[in-house]
Amino acid sequence: MADLRVREFGLEFANPVVVSSGPTGFGPILAETVDMRRIGAFTCKTVTRKKREGNPPPRLVDCGYGIIASIGLQNPGIEEFVRETLPSADAFGTRLIVSIAGFCLEDFAQMASLLETVHGFDILELNLSCPNVESGLMNPSEDPRCAGSIVAEVKKHFASRPVTVKLSPESLPQDTFIRSCESSGADGFTLFNAYHGARFDINTGRPFLRRTEGAYSSPALKPIVLKKIRDARHVTDRPIIATGGASTAEDILEFILAGASLVGFGLVGMIDPEALEELPLHLERCLEARGFVSLDEYCRYLRRTAEHGR
Ligand SMILES: Cc1cc2nc3c(=O)[nH]c(=O)nc-3n(C[C@H](O)[C@H](O)[C@H](O)COP(=O)(O)O)c2cc1C
Repeated sequence: MADLRVREFGLEFANPVVVSSGPTGFGPILAETVDMRRIGAFTCKTVTRKKREGNPPPRLVDCGYGIIASIGLQNPGIEEFVRETLPSADAFGTRLIVSIAGFCLEDFAQMASLLETVHGFDILELNLSCPNVESGLMNPSEDPRCAGSIVAEVKKHFASRPVTVKLSPESLPQDTFIRSCESSGADGFTLFNAYHGARFDINTGRPFLRRTEGAYSSPALKPIVLKKIRDARHVTDRPIIATGGASTAEDILEFILAGASLVGFGLVGMIDPEALEELPLHLERCLEARGFVSLDEYCRYLRRTAEHGR
């Protein structure tokens, strides 16, 4: 069987499949159907300093070719998360990524300090891109320096493990955001969160979502995200967890071709959890069908081909 191991962030992953933050919550239900050890990494739903109930319903609308979600960072707050949730997630037996968001620098500082003292996870993800919280959340989609200052603040308090920054695909200019975070100490990037979207009911004239807009996730976004990953790869050589529109094993190879180090799967985990477990198996078959014994060999082949093509 093809060897799928990936070494990024100074860590070894069993394979490049990363379950993205949110759609499968903190993972206990997913772990009932899926052998989590077969997934490269699991990202916990984003946690804030204080508990949040999230947005009022309706907060999900189907688009036929994707969904718009407006959950609004529902979570138990960092202290309960560390006490109650993290230990069960640690038991999944895969790499674990903890995701945090904050309303001020002090939120980030406090959460980072607490997490520095806690074992049982491998990477800290800073969600600087939640499209679903109306007021006050630090979502610096127009201010790259603000994104950099959050990274710098977190790095002051959290030095034991790598920090990845999750940006919005709408944070522009993308290269300035990446450079600002990188020069402030980001160890890698999770690119991207979802795009803003909305849908309206033509019978009632009202929006389907209580908050009107939400986060649009869809396989239809894959080509747009692929292009943005390629652009990002020209700006940074740090690891990129490419996220947005991936749904198959072939997509993993396509995202790697664009510059991804690991590949995030959000919506797939929500609509077909068992597919997550199948992805590494399908990836092995994809590589074997092309005559490769490992993902590493495939990546080296791509680099050689790219060099010859120059
Ligand atoms: C229901 C739902 C909840 C989400 N919650 C979070 C979250 O808490 N934190 C976060 O960083 N991203 C969250 N996301 C965004 C996903 O992690 C991912 O970036 C996005 O869905 C794009 O990937 P996909 O095309 O594979 O779904 C959420 C997405 C969905 C659909």
